[in-house]
Amino acid sequence: MRKLKGKILPIRYYGDKSLRKATEPVSELTEEIKQLIADLTRTMYEKDGVGLSAPQVGSSLKIFVVDPFWFQEGKKKNPFVFINPKYLELKGEISAEEGCLSFPGIYAKVNRAQKIVIEALNENWEKIKYEAEDLFSRVLQHEYDHLEGILFVDRVSKLKRIVFLKKLQELEKTTDENGVNIG
Ligand code: NI
Repeated sequence: MRKLKGKILPIRYYGDKSLRKATEPVSELTEEIKQLIADLTRTMYEKDGVGLSAPQVGSSLKIFVVDPFWFQEGKKKNPFVFINPKYLELKGEISAEEGCLSFPGIYAKVNRAQKIVIEALNENWEKIKYEAEDLFSRVLQHEYDHLEGILFVDRVSKLKRIVFLKKLQELEKTTDENGVNIG
């Protein structure tokens, strides 16, 4: 695949409608889709993320990119692209702290399946299947949730949410209609 230069896109913050919208499957690998993948990838690295989904940049398509290990691997970049992902299996349960580029400064422990089997199409429109555990599995589930309009704070119990409720309300209040944090 020809390497496209990605653009850095603005991240939509909590309070933006795009984060709650249902996404549509991608039907064809057009130039536009290739550009979106390049933009998502560049933006993820630029913002020091380990994953980024299309709704977080205002697109309602079933696409996300992840690179859970680039920090551990001395910032060596090895992005994985997921188009129209589907779970084949979810197993076990494990709790760990998560954050999200759409929630600056907010972190919380979230329960996730320990192991998943997932299939999708990659950036070359080839069918891929991964068995993922622990961190890789967690990042994939976090991004998959974004495609369903589910945010990580939804998976935190009401009781635990009290800890960061004020921050959350502040973030929502200061996000304008274009999803830009003005606070
Ligand atoms: Ni996120």
